[in-house]
Amino acid sequence: MLSARSVFQEILDNDDSFRLFCSIAASGESQGGWENGRIAALVPQSMRYLAPKITRHGADEDKHGRLFNALLNKRELEPVPVPPETDYTMLLEQRGIGLAHDKLRRDEPLTEDDILIYLSHSRVTEQRAAEQMNMLVKYFGDHPEAGRPLRTICDDEENHLAYCHEELLRLARAGHGRTILRVLRECAMAESRVYRDVSLAVMAHMGRILKWPKAKSTALAAGIHALYAYERLGGQRRMVSLSMPERRDALGGPATAAAGIL
Ligand SMILES: [Fe+2]
Ligand SMILES: [Fe+2]
Repeated sequence: MLSARSVFQEILDNDDSFRLFCSIAASGESQGGWENGRIAALVPQSMRYLAPKITRHGADEDKHGRLFNALLNKRELEPVPVPPETDYTMLLEQRGIGLAHDKLRRDEPLTEDDILIYLSHSRVTEQRAAEQMNMLVKYFGDHPEAGRPLRTICDDEENHLAYCHEELLRLARAGHGRTILRVLRECAMAESRVYRDVSLAVMAHMGRILKWPKAKSTALAAGIHALYAYERLGGQRRMVSLSMPERRDALGGPATAAAGIL
């Protein structure tokens, strides 16, 4: 039976596929950490109140990168280079989604619109991260090695998503509603496509490593295309809606250490 659980179980059980999976995840998380660190440093004066939360957001993503690398270390595996076609963060940036790295490398303050773009972009990508982590925790939350780090990351991604909802609603109420809605829609549209392409590329690599029969690869690719079609037919709404989260001020405190894991 072909299920998401059996596919991820196979990926987890084989050193080469596990190494590629953790390398891709660690690299995406660290890129997210770097981006947030730079955004926190460049927040415009009028939005300085957000800087500690953006710093915390970045610290969490850096921690996730370390957690995925620690999983590799535990199995005495070295990270491998991330194939460009599987680099979700880089591909989003290339499609002009979020803030360009060039801009973040400069030492000029960002604008209020830049911060709206950052938060809207995060609203969409954190939804994806939270859904993926929830799926992994559902299947592997009790896994002896991976369970605890996965639960930690999942909880953080839920915090990040809650924070984006709360801050975007605050800014919408302050008169930025139209811009936020426009950016959310553009971002969700592009993200859906990038996610499909990256999923296809990752599964193609996994299929080669794990020597999947053609029928299995075809079925998995069909599943990825079906998810994309569903998102285009309205499933994207979950990526662009805003509602006040149950967790308020989710990034209000300092980053929590990954106690006992790192
Ligand atoms: Fe993360
Ligand atoms: Fe996150």
